[in-house]
Amino acid sequence: MANTQDSAFDGGYFDEEMSVEVVNSRIGSAADPRLKEVVSILTKHLHAAVKEIEPTHEEWFAAIRFLTETGHMCTDWRQEYILLSDVLGVTMLVDSINHRRPSGATPNTILGPFYVEGAPHYPNGANICLDQKGEPTLVRGRVMDVDGNPVEGATIDVWQTNDDGFYDVQQKGEQPEYNLRGVFKSDADGRYWFQTVKPRFYPIPDDGPVGKLLGDLARHPNRAAHMHFIVTSEGYDEIITHIFTPDCPYLKEDTVFGVKKDLVANFQHIDDPKMAEDYGMPNPFLLADWDFVLARKTPASNG
Ligand code: BEZ
Ligand code: FE
Repeated sequence: MANTQDSAFDGGYFDEEMSVEVVNSRIGSAADPRLKEVVSILTKHLHAAVKEIEPTHEEWFAAIRFLTETGHMCTDWRQEYILLSDVLGVTMLVDSINHRRPSGATPNTILGPFYVEGAPHYPNGANICLDQKGEPTLVRGRVMDVDGNPVEGATIDVWQTNDDGFYDVQQKGEQPEYNLRGVFKSDADGRYWFQTVKPRFYPIPDDGPVGKLLGDLARHPNRAAHMHFIVTSEGYDEIITHIFTPDCPYLKEDTVFGVKKDLVANFQHIDDPKMAEDYGMPNPFLLADWDFVLARKTPASNG
């Protein structure tokens, strides 16, 4: 229970009820205004949480231990704090706040840790699957602006896991380098197309404290099956997004909350020898028709 005997804010003395005011009043007038705003809001909500939870000392030290272990797990290639932000939905929230787009534009979603710059540039129609495993899939569509005009020369950078659910960089020496990665350009009609394999669901790296937290919360570590894209064109807001398969069992329970309704594609079963021949596909195959709609850059566009 809070001590209600004397709850008026009285300078620098600590007081349970007035704890937020006591702490925030210490911020000096020379502090950067944005830093002051951020820290005082965080203090307000953190104190509110502690007052609601009323942790024991043991529980508080367990929280400190968790954060310490999370830090120890971080290396140049493993960012356990971003993973924590991902599984708490904060990464998606920050991304959504910073990428509010006009109606009809392709939504953003999470970038994830497995993007690699410098993937091979291919002509349209090339096959990015270099390990010959998985269900052959043709992805094709147009890059357009919000008025439906084609965007020529847009860059479409794609990456996904292989049929075993691993990115090439997670299996160096096992998978061919740049397996299931490639960069394409839209043609004069805004069209792009490439061959790949159907993506499958896979677990996020769960051998650290964040994975243990998921387990303790009776949550699974799986991401809904997806392909990643970064689509860019001069003068337009960069799109960092995915497309998802409609039949994935984790579609509505992606562990990092990356699925938006408008990003679920239709992977159609095609049995058409002529079409297969036209695109150099084996018959039958899967077809994902997917258009990207770019919004013009505005002064408010972030990123
Ligand atoms: C990914 O989709 O590659 C990913 C996203 C967030 C955490 C881990 C992996
Ligand atoms: Fe991914």
